[in-house]
Amino acid sequence: MKGKRLLFLMLMMPLMAWAENVTSPNGNIVLTFSLTDKGRPTYEMTYKGRPVIKPSHLGLELAKDKHASKGMNETDLIDGFKVADVKYAEFDETWKPVWGETATIRNHYNEMAVTLVQNKQDTEYQGDGKSRGLALIDHVRRMIIRFRVYDDGIGLRYEFPQQRELNYFLIKEERTEFAMAGDHTAWWLPGDYDTQEQETQETKLSGIRERMHHAVNWGNSSVATFSETGVQTALQMKTDDGLYINIHEAACLDYATMHLELVDQQTTHFTEKLGGGSNAYTPNPQKSNWPLPEPFTFVSHLTPDATGLKGAMQTPCETPWRTVMVSDDARDMLSSNLILNLNEPCKLEDTSWIHPTKYCGVWWEMIVGKSSWNYTDEFPSIKLDQIDWTKVKPNGRHAANNEKVKRYIDFAAKNGLDQVLVEGWNVGWEDWANMWKRDVFDFVTPYPDFDIKMLNDYAHSKGVKIMMHHETSSSTQNYERHLEDAFTLMNKYGYDAVKTGYVGDIIPRGDHHYSQSSNNHYMHVIKEAAKHHIMVNAHEAVRPTGICRTYPNMVGNESARGTEYEAFGGSRPDHTCILPFTRLQGGPMDYTPGIFVTKLSEWSGNQSWARITLCGSLALYLTMYSPLQMAADLPEHYERFDDAFQFIRDVACDWDDSRYLEAEPADYITVARKAKGTNNWFIGGKCDENGHKSVIKLDFLEKGKKYDCTIYADAKDAHYETNPQAYTITKRVVKKGDVLKLTEAPGGGFAVSLMMK
Ligand code: NOJ
Ligand code: CA
Repeated sequence: MKGKRLLFLMLMMPLMAWAENVTSPNGNIVLTFSLTDKGRPTYEMTYKGRPVIKPSHLGLELAKDKHASKGMNETDLIDGFKVADVKYAEFDETWKPVWGETATIRNHYNEMAVTLVQNKQDTEYQGDGKSRGLALIDHVRRMIIRFRVYDDGIGLRYEFPQQRELNYFLIKEERTEFAMAGDHTAWWLPGDYDTQEQETQETKLSGIRERMHHAVNWGNSSVATFSETGVQTALQMKTDDGLYINIHEAACLDYATMHLELVDQQTTHFTEKLGGGSNAYTPNPQKSNWPLPEPFTFVSHLTPDATGLKGAMQTPCETPWRTVMVSDDARDMLSSNLILNLNEPCKLEDTSWIHPTKYCGVWWEMIVGKSSWNYTDEFPSIKLDQIDWTKVKPNGRHAANNEKVKRYIDFAAKNGLDQVLVEGWNVGWEDWANMWKRDVFDFVTPYPDFDIKMLNDYAHSKGVKIMMHHETSSSTQNYERHLEDAFTLMNKYGYDAVKTGYVGDIIPRGDHHYSQSSNNHYMHVIKEAAKHHIMVNAHEAVRPTGICRTYPNMVGNESARGTEYEAFGGSRPDHTCILPFTRLQGGPMDYTPGIFVTKLSEWSGNQSWARITLCGSLALYLTMYSPLQMAADLPEHYERFDDAFQFIRDVACDWDDSRYLEAEPADYITVARKAKGTNNWFIGGKCDENGHKSVIKLDFLEKGKKYDCTIYADAKDAHYETNPQAYTITKRVVKKGDVLKLTEAPGGGFAVSLMMK
């Protein structure tokens, strides 16, 4: 037996069958780790003595790898463990984000790292000459489970040091359990490997199964549901006795995105097929070898790649952090920095080129259906290398034309907006979506009516930049092939931000938007963009997990149901009172707010309408935190309501301080923020369909100073359905300690600016 193995066997002897605790710095959260008698790693978590996570198992199921030597890899990392070592540490550091809700962030936690060893007996040829033969050999595999315990929650992850006994392995499924202590209320999205563009459901855990089919957005361009009880993260819950619990993940890098599969009273085995969607090809259904946990336990469910497997790993490596946030105050869910803190510090040396951005765009009129991305309607389909665009008959509806783009640039310049997004500028939109076309766009050839040089020169002469758009149609390899040329073109003309998009099923076929391979693609784009000093805002890409701390050029993501859905049937008025609790936990959302003319039929043939008042739309610039904020409506609509548009001109999108004043999931959110590098504050309040009354004490203002206060409020008779454009604007002078009493209409909100005199 080799010396190294001996050492491990000795190490594991003294530490067996025990339980160890680690507590949060303030002592409110206690995390306990133990091993069952079968050597299954188990953890539990309490908050102020109340159960948050009941005893829950940890581990991973591995797939048989036809290339594996010694047959090692099929042994699951689930049981048979012993403890070799436990290390404790305390960490307390304050760091400065490049952009964010606050100027500094404290990262303060207690850590426990448990090194586990697992013995596997295997046969190996040993000896020499006559005595050579098969011998039983002990292989020892090491896995570390690292816990970080904060005042507002925990993170845990699996780490795999480099070792011969666990070198390459394939993940069949991660089996991290989160056993809930009751039938909590949950705000959830149906688990789906390809989309999050759904409306949030509010049910008890026991009601998820019954609601599931209704909850799926079957009309989305790529849908792959997998289970009658599968939900997405971040999952927000509330217990009957008022605890707020949120499960998500942090730093999902080189790994598949996690969903949660609920074991309920009716569950008989994992991954019960829901049956569908456009991309529901699951070539290798994964049946678990392990027993089901108790009802009301969530079990991790990773997104498969085209082979049905969930991950290809090479040690040394680690999983993302699995996070559980908890508090008895809903506001703490919104102000928590747990997810950011669990990510690595910034890896970009120079970040001076990254900046907050307010923008408008040649966009809404295409989404609404009034104009088109494509230049011509002449052909049933196109091949990029077979068209002479100068000879093509224009359809007369192409929005990204010189005249219109100049109009938007003028509007941006006049109103202090930094950039103008232009979609549909490049060839390929004639048959772009869901045609399984690999060579769908080249990202460098403009349509004949878009003069890229002239327009960029024109914009720059007015202090405005054009924002690039790269719709990939989910043909990720096509995008990677063209990426360098596309970014070089951007540098040449002075673009410094790109909105990417991943509409439709992923090509190569069979892969999913949230698989390890797709996640690696999104990161490749972020890293390459950084080399070119380009900021990235990816639509339909994977939900973020705080990676913007490490790569702050990742300034936005969609990854949820955005404002575009107001033109596709609309979203419920409470939608934006949930997103900050769920989707925004991992990073900012490019929600594209600011729709002032909510009844789209007023200016188009679209019968859909936005379920929000005009002041509700203003509030979103505060309540939906993002360093990238769009004014999404048409310039002529803003010109009609220029006094209200003043708030969008004034509001910042980078902050020194943020105070969540009121919050309840799906009901209301009120936040006050201090604009970066100034003494000015802005307050936004947004509510659901029931309206809300806010009493705001201005105790965060500086003592002895006076502020010009402008209040944009819903009028008394405002209503998101019947009277959305009724608002009042009042001005007064206020000081620290003054109180504002504000009423939000059903589906409404308010916005307040406080400029120090
Ligand atoms: C979907 C995006 O969310 C939307 O903003 C964009 O306009 C279209 N795809 C076209 O790329
Ligand atoms: Ca979208």
